[in-house]
Amino acid sequence: MSDAFSNYDLYADPYMNRLRNEVEKVKAKKSGGLFIPSDFSHFDSLHYCGHNYIEDFLESEKVDSQTKILELCAGNGSTSRFVADRFKVQLTAVDFLPAFNELHRNMNELCGITNTRIIQGDATQLDLVGLGLENECQVVYSLQSFYYIANKPALFSVCNRALKMGGKLYIEDHVVENNIPLIEKEEEIAVKFQFISRLQRQDYVKLLEDAGFHVDEYVFRTTEWSRYLFERSEKFLREKEQIISEYGQELWDTRYVAGIHISCRLYHQLGMTLEEAKAAYPLTCTEFGEEEFERWVCEMPAKFGGAYIKATKIRNA
Ligand SMILES: C[S@@+](CC[C@H](N)C(=O)[O-])C[C@H]1O[C@@H](n2cnc3c(N)ncnc32)[C@H](O)[C@@H]1O
Repeated sequence: MSDAFSNYDLYADPYMNRLRNEVEKVKAKKSGGLFIPSDFSHFDSLHYCGHNYIEDFLESEKVDSQTKILELCAGNGSTSRFVADRFKVQLTAVDFLPAFNELHRNMNELCGITNTRIIQGDATQLDLVGLGLENECQVVYSLQSFYYIANKPALFSVCNRALKMGGKLYIEDHVVENNIPLIEKEEEIAVKFQFISRLQRQDYVKLLEDAGFHVDEYVFRTTEWSRYLFERSEKFLREKEQIISEYGQELWDTRYVAGIHISCRLYHQLGMTLEEAKAAYPLTCTEFGEEEFERWVCEMPAKFGGAYIKATKIRNA
């Protein structure tokens, strides 16, 4: 675990307090009875574009209540609740940060989810034997987290050892699409975003192969991510006054402005003309200023990418 990540200000108190408060707001809306995972989905996800792709994948794997699954870097449990509820599998969900694990437990309890074990740990050094997971899982998955982890051999070794032979690894991750050099601004943003591991497709595939996997699929969904992020930016900007009055300028200055100024500068391949983009994202255009908006949307080539990767364990690591 890198010190850089442990001190990451994105996940500092203002952000965690907002999540706790959002949980309380959901609770206050209902008197008695259980909640369902989607009651929390307007704030609990730390990845882009929902769960459609992992849902299709798990459907194709025909997982059920006998299936052991390991989720790495689960955050506060957005995906774990969806998977546990929708597929009734035996799920173990790991995250490094205790504050996320506590929120995860809290929301799972509110939903009455009992088929998930939440573990604090570092994904690169899990005690799989102690967890009863060595060579036991049909699926290991992780959404938008592996880019934080520099030690891929250790990480992929954990993935391999958790899986049965023939078991599947499913990853959604931030990567780089090409070797076009970053300009200074992009480098600054990537550092802020904690884009620690910047793998291109061939390097990602090689690391997985070295760890005993065959890569079945490697698909970029960068345009989908870009549209999601610009849409999210519009929503934050529409709600800016309300967010500041509820949570203060401090939160806006950390998480929200970061969300707009960071993510939209990394992912801006909208596949739209300038006029279409301005019409679709007017507040974001104003926030950037027209000139800069045009530069990111129409001139800057895509460098970062949203990768969806499926791999099969074909030998022990
Ligand atoms: C961007 S969030 C994604 C969380 C979750 N997958 C989701 O989509 O909502 C990345 C998560 O990775 C976790 N993380 C980063 N490095 C880790 C490590 N080495 N071991 C376990 N968790 C880690 C962070 O604590 C954070 O919760």
